[in-house]
Amino acid sequence: MGTNNSRLQGFYQLNPFERLQMVKSFDGLVDEDLKALHGGHGVLTIERADKMIENVVGTYNLPLGIATNFQINGRDYLIPMVVEEPSIVAGASYAARMVRAGGGFEASTSEPLMIGQVQLVHVAAPNSARVDILAHKAEILRLANAQSRSLVTLGGGARDVEVHYFPSSPMGAMMVVHLIVDCRDAMGANAINSMCEAIAPLLEGLTGGKAYLRILSNLSDRRLARARCVVPVSALERDGLSGEEVAEGIMWAYAFAAVDPYRATTHNKGILNGVDPVIVATGNDWRAIEAGAHAYASRSGQYTSLSTWERDEEGNLVGTLEMPMAVGIVGGATKVHPAAQVSLKLLHVKTADELAGICACAGLASNLAAMRALATEGIQQGHMGLHARQIAMAAGAHGPLVDEIARRMVEERNIKPARAEELVAELHP
Ligand code: MEV
Repeated sequence: MGTNNSRLQGFYQLNPFERLQMVKSFDGLVDEDLKALHGGHGVLTIERADKMIENVVGTYNLPLGIATNFQINGRDYLIPMVVEEPSIVAGASYAARMVRAGGGFEASTSEPLMIGQVQLVHVAAPNSARVDILAHKAEILRLANAQSRSLVTLGGGARDVEVHYFPSSPMGAMMVVHLIVDCRDAMGANAINSMCEAIAPLLEGLTGGKAYLRILSNLSDRRLARARCVVPVSALERDGLSGEEVAEGIMWAYAFAAVDPYRATTHNKGILNGVDPVIVATGNDWRAIEAGAHAYASRSGQYTSLSTWERDEEGNLVGTLEMPMAVGIVGGATKVHPAAQVSLKLLHVKTADELAGICACAGLASNLAAMRALATEGIQQGHMGLHARQIAMAAGAHGPLVDEIARRMVEERNIKPARAEELVAELHP
């Protein structure tokens, strides 16, 4: 075990190799793990990739960065983030530093309950069918649990049955049976889908109806992750602006997202900027997270912010985030992708709940970073340096000249492909 202090001063100024050594000393990873994080050829071998999806012809790399400064439930974390967009890792780390000044994040979760759905049509007597289904609950659960020994071994399994009825739809009335499944450390999609398929014939028998769809719901509103943070106003002070001025700006930014769906969508995208990269780094399903997040943001009937921000009696800024978080640490890509395995090792997570809480904290941190920037200097200033590096690379710069050309373009306030090409021609030997 290393220093276990995620406040890694000057981390961003090191080169990737030096950063890796620092990550190693934080956590005591072994050299083999570093290779999986460092990337290069062979991390995800073509043979392994070929077993993951169909028609494989190659693999596709993305940058893996480490967000620093995170303290969650009293423990320090280095958070692996896989993402293509500049400023996300820096923003999350910066926000985590501000939150650290207020004692760090608190994370918690609901039980890891997911919902599977079986659609039944042509049910002649829906009230009697409902009573029949509920009377056979034990049998339905037994049949469902016989499908997934592994989930039951983990301490999970099907827990409950609910019946919903839609008297009208474009095709007429339908009954929808919900199977509530405790997924423990699995994301659970495969187990739930197998369970739904297995119980469908029994439900057909009980209702006299016909089963069509048998699939999990991505609105995992019983598998929620929550994060909370307190930011002292003094920690918000920057660039000649008082902490109070910044706090006021952030509160107006939140108020905008709370009332306007056009703004709330972008605000929530800023939250997912923090969540998705951790989901990807750990081999989880980011489309499931995105689908669940936006549906949950609409649960009142109006799409709104997933986070809340308020001031406490001492004037501190207090942020909360609650959102569905269907993640697993066993099975699927989490087990197959070597970098996902090392990401989980780096996080030291022992349960899927813990990972879900970390994802929520990364989301809240990204939200805070975006609102702070938007309410003060604007988002572009921070973006420009990294954006300039991308333009320089696209123009053919490599090695130390990438930073040099980017620096010159930022200084000249002329970050354009044409200028980058001129500088490449001028500076590259
Ligand atoms: C950009 O990726 C994310 C932001 O647009 C989020 C927001 O507006 O809150 C900056």
